[in-house]
Amino acid sequence: MDRDTYRSLIGEFATGVAVVTTNVDGRLHGMTANAICSLSLEPLQLLVCVDRESNCYRQMQGAEAFGLSILASDQEEISNTFARTTAPEAGSLLGVAFRQGCLSEPLIENALAHLECRIAERIDGGDHIIVIGDVVAGERLRDAEPLLFYGGRYARLAP
Ligand SMILES: Cc1cc2nc3c(=O)[nH]c(=O)nc-3n(C[C@H](O)[C@H](O)[C@H](O)COP(=O)(O)O)c2cc1C
Repeated sequence: MDRDTYRSLIGEFATGVAVVTTNVDGRLHGMTANAICSLSLEPLQLLVCVDRESNCYRQMQGAEAFGLSILASDQEEISNTFARTTAPEAGSLLGVAFRQGCLSEPLIENALAHLECRIAERIDGGDHIIVIGDVVAGERLRDAEPLLFYGGRYARLAP
């Protein structure tokens, strides 16, 4: 199968949208991601697939933890902000408001929910790496609808 056919078929799998955040020696970084999957309940684990070409990949090499900020339907702009490649910054996340998680990772303010993970394993996955995290904390921040991604564009739940 060619790459474009694969992309259009896998695009039929609707997902949520989250920002994966890391803090390596005070240098903060966020990347929009939807290749995220709940992995295990015993232990509590999830995985995120990270492109080897991304700054997020380089951050993940030095990070001990990462955060997930699950975006709400009114946070499309935040998704776009973190879908642009940007080098990690000392103490800032592209001007987006954040709080510090229990593992020192930044977490986006006003997201739908946060999950905080200690990195358990990094596995080779072709041109991506699969980062497995032990989920150590998390919370739902507000009662809102999720931002969705379907067919290569943002989508929302039907009213
Ligand atoms: C909705 C959406 C989902 C994405 N999912 C992923 C993903 O799961 N993994 C990934 O590596 N990149 C994903 N991307 C692409 C990255 O966000 C993009 O390549 C970003 O520029 C990488 O930034 P960085 O180089 O600063 O880390 C996604 C982009 C969008 C808009």
